[in-house]
Amino acid sequence: MAAAVLHDVGYAPHLVDTGFHPLDGARFLRAVGANERLCAIVAHHSGARVEAAIRGLSDELAELADERSPLRDALWYCDMTTGPDGQRLTFDERVAEIERRYEPGSVTRWFLAEGYDELEAAVQRTTRRLVAAGLAIADQPM
Ligand SMILES: [Fe+2]
Repeated sequence: MAAAVLHDVGYAPHLVDTGFHPLDGARFLRAVGANERLCAIVAHHSGARVEAAIRGLSDELAELADERSPLRDALWYCDMTTGPDGQRLTFDERVAEIERRYEPGSVTRWFLAEGYDELEAAVQRTTRRLVAAGLAIADQPM
């Protein structure tokens, strides 16, 4: 829950340092004494590793470990199935929504192309877990 609420805190203008919001957010949380796991999940949310590589920030992001767990996947799922106003979207609708907001050739569009498979895989794993737990219907679009 904390990661879901805080994962984009690095967009806050007064927290911008590297300009890469997962890392800036995680460093802020660390500086204020947040739990290390929370900092790491925020740092690695929604394919951050791929975008960090594009931005030349892989070493900095590696300060925090990507736990690659169901919890981490669940945050990616929430991020990638929710629109900017909190509306429920399918994964493909969310990708299209992001593409509409960023210019072709932008880092974000480059990241989406490079990270698509990893993002989709996390959403699919979480969907399967939700179905197995009786919390989602198998045939619903994810
Ligand atoms: Fe984000």
